[in-house]
Amino acid sequence: MRALLPDPDRPGRVQAALDRVESARWADPLLMRLRGLVRSLPEGTRDALHGTRLGHPVHPVLVQVPIGTWTSAAVLDLLPGRRRGAGLLVGVGLAAAAPAALAGWADWAELHKPQMRVGLVHAAANTVAVGLYAASLAARLRGRRMKGRALAYAGLLTVSAGGALGGHLAYRQAAGVNHAEPVSVLAGPGWQPVGELADFPVGTPVSRMLGEVPVFVLRQADGTVHVLADRCSHQAGPLSGGEVADGCVRCPWHGSTFRLTDGHVVHGPSTAPQPVFETRVTAGLLEARLPGT
Ligand code: FES
Repeated sequence: MRALLPDPDRPGRVQAALDRVESARWADPLLMRLRGLVRSLPEGTRDALHGTRLGHPVHPVLVQVPIGTWTSAAVLDLLPGRRRGAGLLVGVGLAAAAPAALAGWADWAELHKPQMRVGLVHAAANTVAVGLYAASLAARLRGRRMKGRALAYAGLLTVSAGGALGGHLAYRQAAGVNHAEPVSVLAGPGWQPVGELADFPVGTPVSRMLGEVPVFVLRQADGTVHVLADRCSHQAGPLSGGEVADGCVRCPWHGSTFRLTDGHVVHGPSTAPQPVFETRVTAGLLEARLPGT
């Protein structure tokens, strides 16, 4: 057990194995082919799978059903007279696994490569788990209850390992988290200087610092000035390097599109809005603040 845990001098075996997965470049041609396949889905479908309209990622919500039903089936399999209930839960989990996997693939296709490599192993583990549960259900339907139970327990172990990899993706590699969340803390309260208004080009976004926060600044011909957090809420891409059109800015990394006036997500993969600052010009100096601060 000690070998699995990190010590002060080197990472444990689990972390060392995950580090190797993150840097496994040999898998990249496969990643790119799979990414192309997922990205060939219509944009509206991918937005629905990301959870852009909901304002919350869909994948972590959908995975609750297979994990919950399969864990419940494992408990029922320990109890006498619960054979039918356990089989039903295994079947419900299998039916719910498909939409959860689809949402996961949509999110996966918009990650950085080290995240995609871990994500691919996460998906492979879960695919094996689905196979084990399908075999378990088939065995149960044929009346081979012991075999069905054994396969289901093997499935539970495998899906738990897959879930742990999903946790690594989210907590260690920051996949799927809101990268604009620290802005409200780092920006500080009240009006702060951004720069002399005359120094900002008209119609071209630029990046400036507002305190500790990089901000996207767009001065428009009608005198309007938009200031948004520059690091995209999806994966921290620089919005100031993106395209501006139809009152929105499109992130150059994965195409999340945010409305300039309020940061609303028009297209994913992002599900979290982009922080927008209020602006004013005082004696030629552009100032900005987060609303309500
Ligand atoms: S960083 Fe991914 S869309 Fe902006």
